[in-house]
Amino acid sequence: MTVNTPKAKMILDKSFKISEIDPKIYGSFIEQLGRAVYGGIYEPSHATADEHGFRQDVIELVKELQVPIIRYPGGNMVSAYNWENGVGPKDLRPKRLELAWRSLETNEVGTNEFATWAKKVNAEVMMAVNLGTRGIDAARNLVEYCNHPGGTYWSDLRKEHGYKDPHQIKVWCLGNEMDGPWQIGMKTAYEYGRLAAETAKAMKLVDPSIELVSCGSSGSGMATFPEWEAETLDHTYEYSDYISLHQYYGNKENDTANYLASTLDMDNFIKTVIATCDYMKAKKRSKKTMYLSFDEWNVWFHSNDQDKQVEPWTSGPPLLEDIYTFEDALLVGSMLNTLLKHSDRVKMACMAQLVNVIAPIMTETGGGIWKQTIFYPYYYTSVYGRGTALHSIVDSPKYDSKDFTDVPYLDQSVIYNEENNELVIFAVNRHLDQPLIVDVDISSFEGYQLVEHIVLKNDNPKAINTIGNEQIKPHNSDQSYIESGTLVAELPKLSWNMIRLKKQ
Ligand code: AHR
Repeated sequence: MTVNTPKAKMILDKSFKISEIDPKIYGSFIEQLGRAVYGGIYEPSHATADEHGFRQDVIELVKELQVPIIRYPGGNMVSAYNWENGVGPKDLRPKRLELAWRSLETNEVGTNEFATWAKKVNAEVMMAVNLGTRGIDAARNLVEYCNHPGGTYWSDLRKEHGYKDPHQIKVWCLGNEMDGPWQIGMKTAYEYGRLAAETAKAMKLVDPSIELVSCGSSGSGMATFPEWEAETLDHTYEYSDYISLHQYYGNKENDTANYLASTLDMDNFIKTVIATCDYMKAKKRSKKTMYLSFDEWNVWFHSNDQDKQVEPWTSGPPLLEDIYTFEDALLVGSMLNTLLKHSDRVKMACMAQLVNVIAPIMTETGGGIWKQTIFYPYYYTSVYGRGTALHSIVDSPKYDSKDFTDVPYLDQSVIYNEENNELVIFAVNRHLDQPLIVDVDISSFEGYQLVEHIVLKNDNPKAINTIGNEQIKPHNSDQSYIESGTLVAELPKLSWNMIRLKKQ
């Protein structure tokens, strides 16, 4: 540290509450795409496979992440999916051309297998229905198949297939990215709004206890954003409980300072969706608040070129296998901070995805397993970011980048877990060359002691993890201390940090 080391200040107070954090904010996503299922969660010939063909090494790492809810089966894939092909005796299931990713879908894994796997990893299923090539009928039948106890055609068929008890799937997505020209059965806002509303009505008649997510825009850059939200919500406001947001970032221009500022866009995206939902609430004189489901978020760009070389019509092809760098882990940490700072409205979110496909967990088909760089911020935030999110007053030095102005070097979120007497600060130092000294006023947290300061740091923003060689892994830092009601933390240049305090 020198006299010129940049300094930031934070003021925390127990009463500066944003919201109780819904654990579903730490959800994830498995699409029947690439090696997420085949060669990822499911590989009957693998040395660790259980009686259902699920890799137990994968199950263990997913459990480590404490993922509460997992979206399935797509993604783009769901928009041409016939769910009936994926249930019943495996030897009778048809092989189909999977059009979204131009792969071969063997249907060995379908609804029942996924529900079984989700239980093994202690997660709920968030099920998406096909509103691309299909509609009301296929969706209401699937709810009946999954959730009705018995005594009807579809619920008895589930029993016949070996699943006596209903899966009780609570959260359902009304299609996927229906505004996207790449989507099979893409719709205009009017077409989608009407179809989603009528499908929602029928699904809730089958099971009134379910919650529904209607499709928002596929990203903040869509030309129809946020008019899509306004027009579709005009039709669906009464029936849906959440609206979805999807967003991926990438450092295509190799400009780290600008890349790490991408969460300013994410923050603005969330604020605009909230404003649009609240406009619709006012327009409809409704008492209901629409919540946000940020059900696809991550970094995605490394694999774009290599995916163009992948042979079509094969089962479990290596698609979207981004190998993440250290700077990607920093951005993922900041994306989690952004979600937490909006936890009063963002009640669900899914890191897209979970295994092999733009994922924190990678496997070798027939081989081992390893943690990508992005595994760590996701792990620590999911495990320790439970409780109440707090506002903090922050004064940080700032910088300008190509696309953003006034980017704070300090990016943070603060969690107060009253039950455990724990205070947790997640912080990213975006500075490329200098550490940041942060003085945190914690006088409202009398008697709290420092438990640990965990750091991810590396001199090389492009450092990666590979099987057997984790360049990016957590370290303990001794660069923080508490003095007269102030926590003084030194965040290394370009670093992700978790500082955990506890009162015994
Ligand atoms: O997660 C990968 C893809 O990204 C999903 O299939 C789609 O919904 C989005 O465009």
